[in-house]
Amino acid sequence: MTASANTVGILGAGTMGAGIAQVAAMSGWTVELLDVDQLTVRTAIEGIHRRLDRLVEKGRMQAGQRDAAVTRLHTAGSPRCFGGCELVIEAVVEDIDVKTAVLRGVIERLPDNAIIATNTSSLSVTRLGEAIGRPGRTVGMHFFNPAPLMKLVEVVAGDETEPEVVDRTAGIAEGWGKVVARAADVPGFIVNHVARPYYLEALRILEEGLAGPGEIDYAMREIGGFRMGPLELTDLIGQDVNTATSRSVWEALDRPALLKPSGLQEQLVADGHLGRKTGRGVYSYEGESPVPAVEVERSPLQLNETLSRAVSEFSAAATDVSGTELDMLVFSRILVAIIVQAALAHERGVAETADIDTALRYGTNYPKGPFEWARQIGHGVCVRLLDTLNATVSDNRFAVPALLRE
Ligand SMILES: NC(=O)c1ccc[n+]([C@@H]2O[C@H](COP(=O)([O-])OP(=O)(O)OC[C@H]3O[C@@H](n4cnc5c(N)ncnc54)[C@H](O)[C@@H]3O)[C@@H](O)[C@H]2O)c1
Repeated sequence: MTASANTVGILGAGTMGAGIAQVAAMSGWTVELLDVDQLTVRTAIEGIHRRLDRLVEKGRMQAGQRDAAVTRLHTAGSPRCFGGCELVIEAVVEDIDVKTAVLRGVIERLPDNAIIATNTSSLSVTRLGEAIGRPGRTVGMHFFNPAPLMKLVEVVAGDETEPEVVDRTAGIAEGWGKVVARAADVPGFIVNHVARPYYLEALRILEEGLAGPGEIDYAMREIGGFRMGPLELTDLIGQDVNTATSRSVWEALDRPALLKPSGLQEQLVADGHLGRKTGRGVYSYEGESPVPAVEVERSPLQLNETLSRAVSEFSAAATDVSGTELDMLVFSRILVAIIVQAALAHERGVAETADIDTALRYGTNYPKGPFEWARQIGHGVCVRLLDTLNATVSDNRFAVPALLRE
C-alpha cells in the first residue's frame, strides 16, 4: 500500500479527535474520521462546519478556504478507508486496551511507513507501541484542548520510536501551525509533569491557612502575570481530574514530596465539590461572581528576617509588579516550586530545557518558561530562597536541584 500525501486517519471523533480533524483539514490535509459511533462522526463534522463558519463570519478565514477544508473532511465508514493514510492519530478513550484494539484494527490497512500517533495524556507510548507490535513507528502526538486554539503539541518518543518517525511527526505538527516540544515517554510528559506544583503548592498554602483562595489567585494573576490563578484553574479543570493527574504522576515518580497530592483537594472530590461543573469547588459559582467556598483557619503571617529578605530578593527579580508581603510570598513559593520541578524533570530526562519552556508557555499559557524565569531571577537568588524555604518544611521538598547550583 502507498500513502497519499497529506492524508491523516483519525480514530475517535470526540472532543480531541474532532479538534485535531479541524486543525488538519484547515492545514490542507485530507482527513478520514472514524469512531465506533457514526453519529459521533456526523456530530463532530457538523461541529467543525459551525466553527469554520464562525471564523468566516469573523473575517478570520475566507469562504473559499472554509469550503475547501470542508471537502477534505471524510467520514471513514471502516478501517479500509485508512489505506492511504501516511499518519494515523488515535484519540479514543484513555484506556490502553481500547487503544490497542482500535489500532490493531487498522494497522494492517496502513502503508508500511505510516506513522502511528497517540494523543494519550497519561499512558505509556512505549507500552502502546509494543502492544500493537509497531514500537518503532508509534509516537505520542499530544494535543491540548481545544486543539484548534492551543498552540502546543508534545511529540513523545517511546523507547523504541525511530528518530525519523519523531522528526516527521514534529514536522507535520509544525506544518499544522503548532509549536512542538519534544518529550520523553514519562508520566505526564512535560506539561502535566512540570505544572503540578502550580496547583499543589497553592493548595498547600491554602491548607496552611496562610492565604485565602482569592489572595492566592490574585497573587499569581496580578503579581505573576499568569492568565488564571491556580485555584480557579483547578475549578475549571475539575477537582477530580486535577487530583487524579497529580496522584498518577506522584505514584509513577515514586511519591516525591513536592508532588504529594492535597488532602484538601481530595476532600473536595469526596464531597462532590468538583468545581465549575458542579457549581462548587474551591469557589462557589451559585451567585453572580465566584466566592471562596473553602474555609480554613488562618494563621498569621510570620516571616523571619532571612525568609523575608529571600522573598523580596526573588520577587523583585521575577516581576515589576509589587504587592503585600503575603502576595510576594505566595507568588515566590509557587513559582520557585515550578522551577524546582522543571529542573528535576530535566534531570530525569523528560526534555531539554528549551522544550520545557516552550511546553509551559504554549501548553499552559505561562507568561515565561521556568528556565527563562530562573535565568532572569538568577540561580543564586533561587537557591537562597529555596535554602530558606527548605529550612521551614519537614519534607525537604524545596531541596535545591543540581541544575540550579550551576
Ligand atoms: N479532553 C482533553 O482535554 C484531552 C486533552 C489531551 C489529550 N486527551 C486525550 O485524548 C483522548 C480522547 O479524549 P477526548 O477528551 O477526546 O475523549 P472523548 O470521550 O470526547 O472522545 C473519545 C471518543 O472515542 C470514541 N471511541 C471509543 N471507543 C472507540 C473505538 N473502539 N473505535 C473508535 N472510536 C472509539 C468514542 O465514541 C468517543 O467519541 C484520550 O486519550 C485523552 O486522554 C484529552
